[in-house]
Amino acid sequence: MSEVNRQILLRKRPVGVPAVGDFEEAEAPVRAPGAGEVLLKNLYLSIDPAIRGWMSEAKSYLPPIGIGEPIRSGTLSKIVESRAEGWSVGQIVQALAAWESYSVVSSRMLHGKVESMEGIPLSTMLSVLGGSGLTAYFGLLEVGKPQKGETVLVSAAAGGVGSIVGQIAKLKGCRVVGLTGSDEKCNWLSEELGYDAAINYKTTNLRRSLDEACPEGIDVFFDSVGGEILNSTLTRLNQHGRVVVCGAISQINEAELPPGPSNYLQLLAKSARMEGFTTLDFAPRYGEARADLARWIREGKIHYRDDIVEGLHEAPAHLLRLFSGEHRGKLLVKLAEAEV
Ligand SMILES: NC(=O)c1ccc[n+]([C@@H]2O[C@H](COP(=O)([O-])OP(=O)(O)OC[C@H]3O[C@@H](n4cnc5c(N)ncnc54)[C@H](OP(=O)(O)O)[C@@H]3O)[C@@H](O)[C@H]2O)c1
Repeated sequence: MSEVNRQILLRKRPVGVPAVGDFEEAEAPVRAPGAGEVLLKNLYLSIDPAIRGWMSEAKSYLPPIGIGEPIRSGTLSKIVESRAEGWSVGQIVQALAAWESYSVVSSRMLHGKVESMEGIPLSTMLSVLGGSGLTAYFGLLEVGKPQKGETVLVSAAAGGVGSIVGQIAKLKGCRVVGLTGSDEKCNWLSEELGYDAAINYKTTNLRRSLDEACPEGIDVFFDSVGGEILNSTLTRLNQHGRVVVCGAISQINEAELPPGPSNYLQLLAKSARMEGFTTLDFAPRYGEARADLARWIREGKIHYRDDIVEGLHEAPAHLLRLFSGEHRGKLLVKLAEAEV
């Protein structure tokens, strides 16, 4: 293929919060796929906290991104050449690829074909019907197991995962309280997403606000933040409460991890449970979750916002929004139209 492959590479490992200077733009020839591989044209990039983890040298379920390598990323892509059985040219797929216009990947990096769904934009396949929605669905329903009438607290509540968690909890008949970092996002949670209360954890006294918003205590805490927010919440757990460990974004940029939550013995006192999960644990059931989520979108029971910027160049600045919190909903970068 004669086209140039535009890429964003890891220039150096970030110290603390990543900076735009940790990345560099480059151009390379488009490589032909080998046996068992496909050539993808990347349409959308999914901007996820996991990318920050892969930029560091820390051990993880995947090796670190090498210096000078394109930034690894979930993508929505179109197959433009295939040497992999079962995958054909023209198919739209969810993939683990990279911040570049074209990627050559093994078919093992393809996470399924994307069927277009009537009335649902393609980009939603990377947000509510992609990793964010699936994380919200399985983390809440299978790990948190909310029961009708219980109180569910959600941290990072206005983000890609959190904004869906609260709405599913409402569908299950729970009282839902969200924690987020601006008044504007609090209003969005209360007025558009149906949260019963929203707390701006940056400007209020967190402990007092939790007591006011959760007068009957907390049955399920869906936590994406960790740190002091987790510690304060543990003292308000009800008997047999559940803490869903989804992530710990407050620690993701720390070189040295802070000590664990000092209030953890509350789990003993309340016969409570704290349990982590990865969305991949539930991979065989993605179809079931997508069917429910798509139905809830069509029935107007789930509202969502995808924060989409256009152009590969925008990807680093968009990643930084995960840490500044200047966004609502899921962060995506659009690179190309599916039809071209
Ligand atoms: N377990 C899994 O398999 C799995 C899969 C996907 C994602 N996750 C986790 O899910 C969480 C949410 O991911 P997402 O993609 O939906 O991101 P997101 O919630 O859209 O963005 C992250 C949000 O976290 C908040 N935040 C950032 N730094 C913070 C800090 N120091 N203290 C408190 N809040 C902070 C910001 O919102 P505020 O304005 O509210 O501060 C920001 O908008 C992450 O922890 C991620 O690692 C887990």
